Amino acid sequence: MPLLNIQSVSKSFTDPAGAALQVVNQLSMEMQEGESLVISGPSGCGKSTLLNLIAGIVQADSGSVHIGDTDIQSLSESARDSFRGKHIGYIFQNHNLLQGMSAADNVRIGGFFSGQAIEDAAIEQALEQVGLKDFKDYLPTQLSLGQQQRVAIARALIHKPKLILADEPSSSLDAEHAQACIGLLLELAAEQKAAVLMVSHDERVFDQVGQVKAYGELNQEVVS
Ligand SMILES: Nc1ncnc2c1ncn2[C@@H]1O[C@H](COP(=O)(O)OP(=O)(O)OP(=O)(O)O)[C@@H](O)[C@H]1O
Ligand SMILES: [Mg+2]
Repeated sequence: MPLLNIQSVSKSFTDPAGAALQVVNQLSMEMQEGESLVISGPSGCGKSTLLNLIAGIVQADSGSVHIGDTDIQSLSESARDSFRGKHIGYIFQNHNLLQGMSAADNVRIGGFFSGQAIEDAAIEQALEQVGLKDFKDYLPTQLSLGQQQRVAIARALIHKPKLILADEPSSSLDAEHAQACIGLLLELAAEQKAAVLMVSHDERVFDQVGQVKAYGELNQEVVS
């Protein structure tokens, strides 16, 4: 059974003039456990929407998204939140750190949503792995954008998810940190046989991950 199985998923939004904007059109794709893939494509083409559909944050108009044998789109909102917390690690495009919480507590939250109590030592190790050993007590507003992105990476990996969704995970990072963080992400994913679905325009990431597809190359009906 594939780890991720998307069948004919469609999603349209309503634009400010009230017209329908078809963003995802009958898209189908599969990923196996242990597989890594980067999707690239022009701004606004629907990449983040696709990740949000997979995470059950956005509801599809039609079609199914199975993660293992769970159809995440058919779950209630609370069941989707709980499933996502347990099985998915999501590095959001805008990092989405909780503003009132320290770097360490933001990482801890990743464990909390998965129902696991994470030891302080594991949180410190996770922060150290992304180069933030000395920043555990810093609030997001006291961190640079790249440091916030690294906290978000640590948070997404702390509960050892089966599926990692990473939306431009190196967008705020210099070459050295990008290579280290993407390397860490791929290494932890390999240990857990997790699948990694990344969105990126970063050629350094293409080289590290290996498998790259253009959004327009994914199996979906062409929007006319
Ligand atoms: N909640 C929403 N309501 C209305 N339109 C939306 C909504 N979310 C996204 N869209 C539209 O869907 C389209 C795709 O957005 P999405 O965020 O998926 O693009 P993207 O490929 O991730 O772009 P980028 O590379 O800039 O992050 C855009 O045209 C956007 O205006
Ligand atoms: Mg996006």
